[in-house]
Amino acid sequence: MKKKAVIHFDGERSTINPNVYGHFAEHLGRCIYEGIWVGEESDISNTKGIRNDVLQALKSLEIPVLRWPGGCFADEYHWKDGIGPREGRKRMVNTHWGGVVENNHFGTHEFFLLCELIGAEPYINGNVGSGTVQEMQEWVEYMTFDGESPMANLRRENGQENAWSLTYFGVGNENWGCGGNMRPEYYADLYRQFQTYVRNYGKNKIYKIACGPNGDNYNWTEVLMREAKPYMDALTLHHYTITGPSWNEKGSAIKFTEEEWGRTFKSALHMDELITKHCTIMDKYDPENKVALIVDEWGTWFDVEPGTNPGFLYQQNTIRDALVAGVTLNIFQNHAERVQMANIAQTVNVLQAMVLTEGDQMLLTPTYHVFNMYKVHKGATAIQLQMDSGGEPLHISASKNKEGEVHISLCHYGLKDGADFELELRGWEHQPSQATGTILQASSMNEHNTFEQPDTLKPANLEGIKLSDGKLSVSIPPMSVSVIKLS
Ligand code: AHR
Repeated sequence: MKKKAVIHFDGERSTINPNVYGHFAEHLGRCIYEGIWVGEESDISNTKGIRNDVLQALKSLEIPVLRWPGGCFADEYHWKDGIGPREGRKRMVNTHWGGVVENNHFGTHEFFLLCELIGAEPYINGNVGSGTVQEMQEWVEYMTFDGESPMANLRRENGQENAWSLTYFGVGNENWGCGGNMRPEYYADLYRQFQTYVRNYGKNKIYKIACGPNGDNYNWTEVLMREAKPYMDALTLHHYTITGPSWNEKGSAIKFTEEEWGRTFKSALHMDELITKHCTIMDKYDPENKVALIVDEWGTWFDVEPGTNPGFLYQQNTIRDALVAGVTLNIFQNHAERVQMANIAQTVNVLQAMVLTEGDQMLLTPTYHVFNMYKVHKGATAIQLQMDSGGEPLHISASKNKEGEVHISLCHYGLKDGADFELELRGWEHQPSQATGTILQASSMNEHNTFEQPDTLKPANLEGIKLSDGKLSVSIPPMSVSVIKLS
């Protein structure tokens, strides 16, 4: 069956902000501890306490921005507990995530070191739910003030002479839920108050991020835009892909039915509707598009792997996750005007992770490979696409980079038949002379990488791409994510 897509080169859209490829690392389960931080004394090879295998994997991914310390943890985090000599740091209970002891060995200094080592910009999420205005104000001063002040001096005493550069700062997380169960009117007022004291010191300019809605809570967006728009640079949105009928029955990450496969994509594709509707509200209050939408938590959320701590949110990652990543990144790119950042949850060992670890072993998940394949879109111009998919489960986005090369990302989330894909290159000033591609493909719906077989799923060349008379044709198998380059 022939499928057809038409690219309108006269319909170029906005630049795809590289930050759409951002990540999120919370003090949750084995994300920070074990997954990233093993400590300087560990037998696992590390750089100042950060494990080298994970460091290398994250560096190769060219992560633009990393959100920390939470999530729900952020609104219980008191930053002063995580500075100074590690042996003296306060031990606390991580009440949200498994009730385990948090020894605060990974704090502000360690986070900035991680960002520096992997080349990511830090995105810090402050505490509104259980913190004070003063605590938030002092944290920003500690991190970004270079002059003489109590907090800048404290930072120097703790070994960091120069202020760090920090752009992205979130004022609370999920304040409609774990961050304080607030009404939007109340949070809007608190946001206005807290953000007042998030100062710009010297040349450091903070980009202020307000807590946005959960899924389809359009009233939250309405109230926040109406009451607090002049005080924010961005509003967030959280949407997780779940498969089960409720939060209590999310389904297994590996053992699932074809019906669950279908429900997964329904939930993932819902992101498009959510962004469209929230943006319609934002357009009403902000027609000049000054306030960005940041999807700073997204990804699959399944039941934890059997035998693991239910509070640790450790799940495996199959071709289904890879396709959810591909489809969602396509959606972000197709909304490049307003979606300026996104942060998949979470980087290591939690939810839809890039990397899984077990002791000194590490594997790259299929989701990691999709992020790696898609990174060619960063900073490129999104292209307006139209596709007649004939009801076939295909999802697509494309971009043109500064060199004039076009990259097309194609997700086939069908389980059975492949598609012979035909693309008309309309309006292209320079007909491409070359087409190459990469594909991540599975032969069964629950295929995944294990510590014993870490390369079951990995990208390969996409063969059989033909170019003639301004048309590109290629066969796309089911359960696959492809990126095609035209030059
Ligand atoms: O990512 C896991 C949790 O999901 C985060 O801590 C919270 O913000 C969200 O509910």
